[in-house]
Amino acid sequence: MSQYLAKYSQFVMPDHINVVGTLFGGQMIAWVDLAAAKVAHRFLKGSQADGAVTRTIEQVEFKEPVYLGDWVNFTAAIVSAGTTSIHIEVKAYAEGGKTDPRLACVASLVMVSVKKGEKGNYIKHPHGKTIQ
Ligand SMILES: CC(C)(COP(=O)(O)OP(=O)(O)OC[C@H]1O[C@@H](n2cnc3c(N)ncnc32)[C@H](O)[C@@H]1OP(=O)(O)O)[C@@H](O)C(=O)NCCC(=O)NCCS
Repeated sequence: MSQYLAKYSQFVMPDHINVVGTLFGGQMIAWVDLAAAKVAHRFLKGSQADGAVTRTIEQVEFKEPVYLGDWVNFTAAIVSAGTTSIHIEVKAYAEGGKTDPRLACVASLVMVSVKKGEKGNYIKHPHGKTIQ
């Protein structure tokens, strides 16, 4: 198990629903990105970087539909790290009022550690961290 983990939850409201009555996939991806940002934030504590930005969101798989009134519980784990890259796996479990949690979505992301440059822009910066 990764030494860097984060949990994050969202409640599915009417604004999140698509035309077929389930959670809009783009909304799910936005929440996946936030869950990944949370674990990256933890990973970067004590580093010289100012934060991390998303470089790739890949291998997104929607395994089960998610419905109005479900809670979506995310787990984000850092699986490996390069010089500036942070490789993250996110799993989203949907939980209805009367149903057991089910794995609804999985995704892999790469975030890159950044630091504010002289011109005010953010550029990649080594995080100096390793994963055991
Ligand atoms: C992220 C960003 C700062 C990286 O700067 P860059 O000079 O392009 O950096 P690189 O191409 O060297 O990539 C940086 C790291 O990401 C890795 N990487 C780049 N593309 C990748 C890909 N498609 N898959 C996996 N890893 C990738 C590189 O291998 C490198 O890792 P390492 O330092 O651990 O060896 C820059 O591309 C950027 O600002 N992108 C826009 C980010 C953004 O707006 N995100 C959305 C909002 S958060």
